Amino acid sequence: MRAAPLLGASAARLPLSLFLLLSFRLDRGVGAKELKFVTLVFRHGDRSPIETFPNDPIKESSWPQGFGQLTQLGMEQHYELGEYIRKRYGKFLNETYKREQVYIRSTDVDRTLMSSMTNLAALFPPEGVSIWNPGLPWQPIPVHTVPLSEDRLLYLPFRDCPRFQELESETLNSEEFQKRLHPYKDFIETLPKLSGYHGQDLFGIWSKVYDPLFCESVHNFTLPSWATEDVMTKLRELSELSLLSLYGIHKQEEKSRLQGGVLVGEILNHMKSATQPSNHRKLVMYSAHDTTVSGLQMALNVYNGILPPYAACHLMELYSEAGSEDHPCCCLLPGVWRPSGAAVYPHPPWALLAERLLSEHLNRRLNEGRHARPIFVTRHRSPMQHSKDRLSPCGHHSAHICPFKSA
Ligand SMILES: *[C@@H]1O[C@H](CO)[C@@H](O)[C@H](O)[C@H]1NC(C)=O
Ligand SMILES: *[C@@H]1O[C@H](CO)[C@@H](O)[C@H](O)[C@H]1NC(C)=O
Repeated sequence: MRAAPLLGASAARLPLSLFLLLSFRLDRGVGAKELKFVTLVFRHGDRSPIETFPNDPIKESSWPQGFGQLTQLGMEQHYELGEYIRKRYGKFLNETYKREQVYIRSTDVDRTLMSSMTNLAALFPPEGVSIWNPGLPWQPIPVHTVPLSEDRLLYLPFRDCPRFQELESETLNSEEFQKRLHPYKDFIETLPKLSGYHGQDLFGIWSKVYDPLFCESVHNFTLPSWATEDVMTKLRELSELSLLSLYGIHKQEEKSRLQGGVLVGEILNHMKSATQPSNHRKLVMYSAHDTTVSGLQMALNVYNGILPPYAACHLMELYSEAGSEDHPCCCLLPGVWRPSGAAVYPHPPWALLAERLLSEHLNRRLNEGRHARPIFVTRHRSPMQHSKDRLSPCGHHSAHICPFKSA
């Protein structure tokens, strides 16, 4: 984190008295906070490829459970994440599973369902009276889901929105996107001969060429001779560009309102409920995909441009500040966790930025005193927009319909 050196550097220029005052206030602020509510949004663990390119000698049958499935490595990653969550929030959750305290929702996909279940096995092993089979240190914890066709929260991107489709094609035609794509034009031309995949769209290159090669390398398969380190780097960069252009590059705000912003709205609603005296809920967990984690981060304007790694977990913590009962909740600590090695995956100092933005906007929202409009968080503009800026899940299941409603 760059926060400490920054603070140190500017503090060094301040007169001593001011510096003391500053550190005193900071200390007081930190000491007075009490954790109230936690939201976690994570990606599933290591998986087999979802599909592959025509010339791939490694077919679906090479994977023990076929395509798109959580592997044992993926289970290990989520077990590790569950242990981390237990360590971080064990005291807060009072160590044992209480149904009114936690809610878990997953997309209706094998790998996300299985990831959340593995995670929960580590987070809530039975203790004391909840032990039901002494030979099995596990208890069932419910994981909720809805069919993919009805999922207007986690199964991003929501592609059946005509306005989003327009924005996507505008993005692909934008100068900025073309500028970023240009250096790779010749490289893309070489791919059909090598892979047998003839599509030129970046999402296809990501999901049908880069992703299967990546999965195979993780699992120690021998890659085709053309998949050199240099080729893999270019493929990864194109995949990152694909993800970035999905939610960003052009009209990021409007796209986010139709995509990750919907989840932001839901999370803020939960936080608002968490400030009520009657609230018992302490933890909400969402088990989803790289496109969900990045879509959320794009809507928060804190995305770092890296493909979210397996079991990457975006944490949001809501605190109350003692002595300010009128404005009980005012601070969020977003962070990203990934298994093994680094505790956080590399990111710019956006954690601080997001903390500031979210706490500002959450305060405004909580202070409205009536059912608030969902808001959109952005770095450059006032986030409180007017009705056209409502976060709206797009499509017929929702009360908020995107401007160009689908049939
Ligand atoms: C934790 O749970 C125990 C047993 O149910 C209870 O006695 C204790 O008060 C709880 N602690 C907190 C901080 O809620
Ligand atoms: C791949 O090989 C490395 C080095 O031998 C090993 O540590 C790793 O566990 C293997 N990966 C898998 C998924 O088996």
